[in-house]
Amino acid sequence: AKPAILISRKIFPDVVEHLRQHFEVDHNDTDGVLAPAQLIERLQGKVGALTTGSERIDGAIVQAAPSLRIVANIAVGYNNFDVPALSSAGVLATNTPDVLTETTADFGFALLMATARRLTESEHFLRAGQWNRWALDMFAGAEVHGSTLGILGMGRIGQAIARRGALGFGMKVIYHNRSRLDAATEAECKASYVDKATLLREADHLILVLPYSKESHHAIGAAEIAQMKSSATLVNIARGGIVDDAALAKALKERRIAAAGLDVFEGEPSVHPDLLTVPNIVLTPHIASATIQTRRAMAMLAADNVIDYLTTGKPRTPLNADIIGKGART
Ligand code: GLV
Ligand code: GLV
Repeated sequence: AKPAILISRKIFPDVVEHLRQHFEVDHNDTDGVLAPAQLIERLQGKVGALTTGSERIDGAIVQAAPSLRIVANIAVGYNNFDVPALSSAGVLATNTPDVLTETTADFGFALLMATARRLTESEHFLRAGQWNRWALDMFAGAEVHGSTLGILGMGRIGQAIARRGALGFGMKVIYHNRSRLDAATEAECKASYVDKATLLREADHLILVLPYSKESHHAIGAAEIAQMKSSATLVNIARGGIVDDAALAKALKERRIAAAGLDVFEGEPSVHPDLLTVPNIVLTPHIASATIQTRRAMAMLAADNVIDYLTTGKPRTPLNADIIGKGART
């Protein structure tokens, strides 16, 4: 019999077929999110699993699933994984970098522009039948071209956003990151490194593209928002919890900054109720990588990680490759 794997959520049928060539596939195609106890039950006898950000995979899960050798996240972010615990248990972890970089950067720009130019706020006004005459200052927003774009977190996606801003919109691009880019990369994306205080103070539009961790928890809270321009916009396409959503809602109500665009939320899919009542905000349900091509490419890369690791021992995009041959389950 073929070895068995679990796919935790509904994914594209062609990706499931690709996996079926190698494995018995248990596919949660009802698409309900499996609670930890259900997940453990479904992982019994499975050598691999494809998961999403909706499932938390920690030491307790992998210890209760002793046959599991690889967990392949269908996401670039992997804060839903306890990677050190997976490594200790000998379970390989993979994510989906690169395939979503440009698509996610496109969305970051879409959200930035929608926020700066008050796209959804004005659409709601029109749909509500409130548009009875044109006015010179109606929904006047903030300039995007030629303004200063601040990027917090300068990985692949941050760099792709920088190129869009500098080359497409003539923006001055400044960034802050744990580590500074090398000079050639800075020159290629026309971005200048600044400290965090300068980034907050000088950005007309601040976009967050850093991974979530204990260190980045509430990287943007009341104190940081207070340092921003009152005309600034803030965009979060990274992870919920990087922004203190309650502090942001308060700041938007008090017009301490002009507007915000959020694709990710603390405790999503719940959204802080105060965010839902402020007008100067654009809210989307964690869709930054959501094009048909890219979501399929992410699922296919996760599938290929499982296939390659279990058939050749060589995963494509591992997070803890150091365990291979040194404690990895066999
Ligand atoms: C989506 O948020 C991802 O991490 O890919
Ligand atoms: C995230 O890891 C990125 O690709 O920027």
